[in-house]
Amino acid sequence: MSIRFSEESQTFSLRTKSSSYIMRRNEYGYLLHMYYGERLEDENLDYLIQLQDRGFSPNPNEVGNDRTFSLDVLPQEFSSDGICDYRICSIEVKNGDGSFAFSGKVADYRINSGKYELKGMPSLWTTEEDTVDTLEIRLEDTATNLNVILYYSVFEEKDIITRTVRVVNRGSDTVYLNRVMSVTMDFMDSDYDLIHFDGRHTMERELHRVPLSYGVQSIGSCRGASSHQHNPFMILCSKDTTEDFGHCYGFSLVYSGNFLCEVEKDQYDQTRLTMGLHTKYFSWQLKAGESFQAPEVVMAYSGRGLTHLSHLYHHIYRNNLCRSPYAKLPRQIVINSWEAAYFTFDEEKLLNIARAALDMGAELFVLDDGWFGKRDDDSSGLGDWEVNTDKLSHGLDGLADRICGMGLQFGLWVEPEMISENSNLYREHPDWCLQMPHRPVSRGRYQLVLDLSRKDVCDYIIGFMNHILDTVKVSYIKWDMNRNITDAWSSIEEADKQGEIYHRYMLGLYYVLDHIVLTHPDVLFVGCSGGGGRYDPGMLYYHPQIWCSDNTDAAARLKIQYGTSFAYPIQTMESHVSVCPNHQTGRTVPLHTRGVVAMDGIFGYELDATKLTADEKAECREQTIRYKKYYPLIAQGDYYRLTNPYEDLYLTAWEHVSPDRKYALLCVVLTDKEANAPQKYVKLKGLDPNKFYKIEGMDRSFSGQLLMSAGLPVPFSLGQYEAVQYYLETEE
Ligand code: GLA
Repeated sequence: MSIRFSEESQTFSLRTKSSSYIMRRNEYGYLLHMYYGERLEDENLDYLIQLQDRGFSPNPNEVGNDRTFSLDVLPQEFSSDGICDYRICSIEVKNGDGSFAFSGKVADYRINSGKYELKGMPSLWTTEEDTVDTLEIRLEDTATNLNVILYYSVFEEKDIITRTVRVVNRGSDTVYLNRVMSVTMDFMDSDYDLIHFDGRHTMERELHRVPLSYGVQSIGSCRGASSHQHNPFMILCSKDTTEDFGHCYGFSLVYSGNFLCEVEKDQYDQTRLTMGLHTKYFSWQLKAGESFQAPEVVMAYSGRGLTHLSHLYHHIYRNNLCRSPYAKLPRQIVINSWEAAYFTFDEEKLLNIARAALDMGAELFVLDDGWFGKRDDDSSGLGDWEVNTDKLSHGLDGLADRICGMGLQFGLWVEPEMISENSNLYREHPDWCLQMPHRPVSRGRYQLVLDLSRKDVCDYIIGFMNHILDTVKVSYIKWDMNRNITDAWSSIEEADKQGEIYHRYMLGLYYVLDHIVLTHPDVLFVGCSGGGGRYDPGMLYYHPQIWCSDNTDAAARLKIQYGTSFAYPIQTMESHVSVCPNHQTGRTVPLHTRGVVAMDGIFGYELDATKLTADEKAECREQTIRYKKYYPLIAQGDYYRLTNPYEDLYLTAWEHVSPDRKYALLCVVLTDKEANAPQKYVKLKGLDPNKFYKIEGMDRSFSGQLLMSAGLPVPFSLGQYEAVQYYLETEE
């Protein structure tokens, strides 16, 4: 068993292959957090708690006049609120009597084998190869009978602990939850950096690393989506942490809507981190007998730096997150119509693009936006999911038949959560969108958001989507969401339940996806929200891949894909070769480099293939052949970030190594060219030091040790934005 409770020391201990997580019930019943880090054999950690009389830190009633016991100072597993602890808290409750207070003490616990299940929300699942045990600890507030159940599932071999929290109202009054954090993590020190991933539309998940400072650092989204602006993934690491060295902790929230991560460095240089649903616009009514389920957080600890931390996440997210069988299947090479045609096309134009792309090695044609309703630009049509026969004279099925007749598969873009005011759906159901009474509604990209907190709206979406999937030969669906939520008010809820709408929207969306995605396992669903505006584990549960960014500029993608790789596996990042000058940045990058960068993900094209020259087409053909060869490495290999694009301005390099270390792919892009520049070398990682590797195109072989210690010279002749790719294979 990876979970134990010692009656003698009242200690709960959770163990993975390389980490220990330890809590202790103290003499008053409070659950103290003792330790998370390198795996320990000696778990007697009592000596760490040093009680002092701390001025202005109050003492709970039951300790009498013991001025050294304060919840304001002690490390806790799930903090009280309103009772002696002034730090950021795990929960905020407005009780039936109007008081704002919670104080939970351990009532009982259970240890089970297997993992807990979350109803209505995505979470990790277990495979046959996993040994997973679960600990449930029930905390009880005896003043109100509000219970909080803490859940921990331990993936022993995969070095992962998942956590969640359920609040149960066993009292007789209705209470309001204003904050419920899925994880609270106290550290007795504060010498850490916080790494978070932020950005904007077309420049997502840029890495930021900042030292902890006094007060609260807060990162989150109130946009109704996990967002382009912040990602629900954080790393806390010792200051000396690098890719290969140092202690680091990852926290990844399996949720796609409003989230909050706060880190507080307190007056005694201790740290508290909390992560869960955002508290802004959140107030959940909990009547007697009802319960509230928080989303899951996936935690990992690495004592060997950031690369290993990423490997832990890649491994578990590849194997235990996505429900689709495609998670394990090779993906087809896509040609997408968006940057090729935008809204202006007819059947012939699409067929010509598809035919030209077939020659290049494309396997699946995706018809993007513009095929339905009256949709000649983005100002109308959303909601009218019937084919526009002015553009597609033989209908969708006619186009799909012709595409499939060429030997390509057919894919389709949809944006089911949205509605245009200029649509039949809006004219019929003006109350189906989120809007507040007496206030004109706000628009984003001219569109409004459907009220997915309503079951009738969700069922409508399930109906039309399943109709498309059941009548058209579609193998791929790109599910988009092109604005963030505002005006979050639902016409069917009472006034004191409007604080539930953002979360109810997400529950509605997950319900919809359960009934569309999970009932069509033969279709590959791809996530998208203006590119990577909803790139999170909640969406990856349904979509094995996500359109990483609307920015297809290979030079910009180097940073976007770098940041994304910290938590998310490479085979989840959809990445396309587009034309130059690039439509988003105006930059020109050689076609070869665009291919190398797009191969750092799920490879495809997004251009008008009929406009390519014969040489360009031949080069694309060669790219698709290479990608097929490298695919197993990219999909299943270990990923190494060899440079940091924010620090190494001259070049960006990365590497994929097969799990058996027999094959590797090294990629290098020169990002800045200097005159008479110094010779640069790239040192590889993850190879077998005792094996010899042949490098394609070179007439000698090198030992793994040499390649990792001395490295390879970067060809001096490379110009700015030029790239090289080296394929390595061990000698027999
Ligand atoms: C979003 C997507 C794009 C494209 C457009 C269509 O911005 O990210 O790839 O599908 O919508 O409107």
